[in-house]
Amino acid sequence: MTAGLGTTNVRLVTQKDRFKRRRLSSKQRHIEAALDGQSEVPVTSRGGDLGFGSLRFLPMTLPEIDFGAIDLSLRFLGKTIRAPFMIAPMTGGLKRGGQLNKIMATAAEHVQIPFGVGSQRVALEVRSRARDFQVRRFAPTIPIFANLGAIQLMRGYSADDAQRAVDMVEGDALFLHMNAMQEVIQEEGDTDWRGVLRAIASLCENFTKRRSVPVFVREVGFGVPVDQARRLIEAGVQGIDCAGRGGTSWTLLEGRVASSKSHQSLGSIFAAWGLTTPESILAVRNVSKKIPLIASGGVRSGLDVAKAVALGATLASIGAPVMRAAAEGGTDAVTDLLETTKKALKVAMFGVGAVSLTSFRKNPRLIPF
Ligand SMILES: Cc1cc2nc3c(=O)[nH]c(=O)nc-3n(C[C@H](O)[C@H](O)[C@H](O)COP(=O)(O)O)c2cc1C
Repeated sequence: MTAGLGTTNVRLVTQKDRFKRRRLSSKQRHIEAALDGQSEVPVTSRGGDLGFGSLRFLPMTLPEIDFGAIDLSLRFLGKTIRAPFMIAPMTGGLKRGGQLNKIMATAAEHVQIPFGVGSQRVALEVRSRARDFQVRRFAPTIPIFANLGAIQLMRGYSADDAQRAVDMVEGDALFLHMNAMQEVIQEEGDTDWRGVLRAIASLCENFTKRRSVPVFVREVGFGVPVDQARRLIEAGVQGIDCAGRGGTSWTLLEGRVASSKSHQSLGSIFAAWGLTTPESILAVRNVSKKIPLIASGGVRSGLDVAKAVALGATLASIGAPVMRAAAEGGTDAVTDLLETTKKALKVAMFGVGAVSLTSFRKNPRLIPF
């Protein structure tokens, strides 16, 4: 199920685009381009794609439960968390990124949900930047994910470097992000992806041997189809974020911040590349019923979280809207957003008569529109 051009919100940019007029580092440009809300490609029902909007719940006229008794808690990475969603990894490595990480991690601790830092590559190269990722003192009890690009394993980064990234954030798990389509649209991206699967397998083996944290792999918004999920699970990964299409589009975003016309138009052409997030959840669950599965990409409300969980996700994960709340209103705004997300998830569970995640997963009453 792929999208036609008619299903996207493609915006072509001009040389006068504001990202080029201002002198920004690439990470800053990414933040600015995500904050303005113009780098998202929502799934519309017009293209026939399976988006969150094409799913609904069969209501229960008499739920026969007490709303106040609904329990969203679950065990994840050896800790109890209070809701089945997390803040997606996004930033670090510059002052503003460090400030945003502090705000988001503080709110995640308050709500007791997991948090991921953005790619730590810069802090492995420039030690002083580690401070932009070190959020453990603001979030002492929740699961925290370290983050590195899978492609870095082909560019001289060893298992010891990956362990340094985990230690830097006192992490409970490591995310290896797989962003091939973003890199190929980037003007100077990493485009030789030969051998990456073998490198992931060898890191997983090394981390298991040294009894380090679990290695999760994550897409960044193009989805993980059945054949790729099978290869990754066979390679030994212990969790997957199947990040699909429907929210931040890294092809569109890279096109928007590119200076050449050719890369700008590539970004637009491939803006709607990949599986949607619901399609991606179903694909991974088709391969494994058990593997911890996180679903990011276009999760925009507690109702979307409910749909992701109903489809089989262990957790949903929210990116750009959380960063926007952090930038605009600080910790209180992020906490409000997360609490509202929890509340909407509870309302959805109330509407189908589920008092716990276990009963909700057993009979989610999810139906297509
Ligand atoms: C500004 C920004 C920076 C990001 N940087 C990273 C990163 O460093 N590592 C990573 O694994 N994912 C990164 N992501 C991807 C997100 O974790 C998430 O998978 C993606 O944005 C889809 O979720 P969304 O639609 O809710 O934004 C970034 C996303 C944004 C918006």
